[in-house]
Amino acid sequence: MTVRTLGDTIWASLPVPSFVVDPEDRISEVNAPAEQFLNTSQRSLLGSPVFDKLAIDAPLEEAFGRVRTDLSPLFINKVDVSGGNAAPVQCNIQIAPLIGMPGHVLVVMEPRQIADRLGRAYSVTSAAKSAIGMAEMLAHEIKNPLAGITGAAQLLSMNLSNGDLELTDLIVAESRRIVALLDQVEQFGNLRPPARRVVNIHDLLDRARKSAMVGYAAHMKIVEDFDPSLPPTYVDSDQMLQVFLNLLKNASEASGKQGGTIRLHTFYDLSLRLRRRDGAGGALPLQIEIIDDGPGIPEDMQADIFEPFVSGRENGTGLGLALVSKIISDHDGWISVDSVPGRTVFRISLPIAPKEVRDE
Ligand SMILES: Nc1ncnc2c1ncn2[C@@H]1O[C@H](COP(=O)(O)OP(=O)(O)OP(=O)(O)O)[C@@H](O)[C@H]1O
Ligand SMILES: [Mg+2]
Repeated sequence: MTVRTLGDTIWASLPVPSFVVDPEDRISEVNAPAEQFLNTSQRSLLGSPVFDKLAIDAPLEEAFGRVRTDLSPLFINKVDVSGGNAAPVQCNIQIAPLIGMPGHVLVVMEPRQIADRLGRAYSVTSAAKSAIGMAEMLAHEIKNPLAGITGAAQLLSMNLSNGDLELTDLIVAESRRIVALLDQVEQFGNLRPPARRVVNIHDLLDRARKSAMVGYAAHMKIVEDFDPSLPPTYVDSDQMLQVFLNLLKNASEASGKQGGTIRLHTFYDLSLRLRRRDGAGGALPLQIEIIDDGPGIPEDMQADIFEPFVSGRENGTGLGLALVSKIISDHDGWISVDSVPGRTVFRISLPIAPKEVRDE
């Protein structure tokens, strides 16, 4: 068997939908599972712009760009993919540069198994939901008696000597810590739909910076690197402020006592867009990066970092980034992270304010 036929055989045998995309983002090869998956014939797929045929709930241009420049593969997990009139299917996507064919990329999609999709994945989300609902209820129930306990400890402390005072102080301090944690759980459950306004994102970033500097980021240096020409965005200021604060808090905590530098970087990038299955979701040209020079996110955590209750810190709830990602997705935006020791970048991509509301 020659190498070429082996290659053809492998291509024909690949059991998952696979495509080759040329440097102009047109489909140049498809295999049979891809035809089935898209419910479209090879003839109508070949030569077509890949984004016309596939609706993928992730900014693929960026991914393709990265694969082409870094010449290394990239994985995107758990995204909705649909094509033709087919219902969207959650897939894990792998993108790789084609060796010997510069600019061409191989896209392999692995639909999450039907059983998995109908069973586990769904039950996980509903389990996550009911866990959050339960946590919220508990939070509420625990806060009242806790206030009583704290009050009683404070009363007791009035007649105590130094040694015993330490104990009541401990009760009070630990109770406060639990209340703070419960507040966060409640906040996660209470998230309302965004009340959007036309907002200058730099004002928000600056507010976040000022507020972080008097709190958990007091030991950090925060530098602003803004593109002043950025058009306004259309967001819920309070929620977006919360996003920036959570990210600044994480960066400050990761850097530890010795501190470090956080860079707030904004710029414009027209190439990024989301394509949702309902046709909604357009360009996400506003880029906001929060970059720190701390130790980075442990590699084994990176894939789950936005899931609730995933935390690498002893006292963390793991709700900070889950809240961030929920807010960004409620705003039809996108968040991604790129982390190596010494450089962690959280990038938020947002739409600009639509013209109608900007002129109001
Ligand atoms: N900039 C960063 N550098 C290094 N690790 C980070 C960074 N941001 C997040 N992490 C890691 O991701 C984990 C999850 O963050 P997340 O904000 O969701 O929860 P948390 O910070 O642990 O808890 P909480 O935000 O509720 O206080 C953190 O515990 C930390 O291990
Ligand atoms: Mg956090």
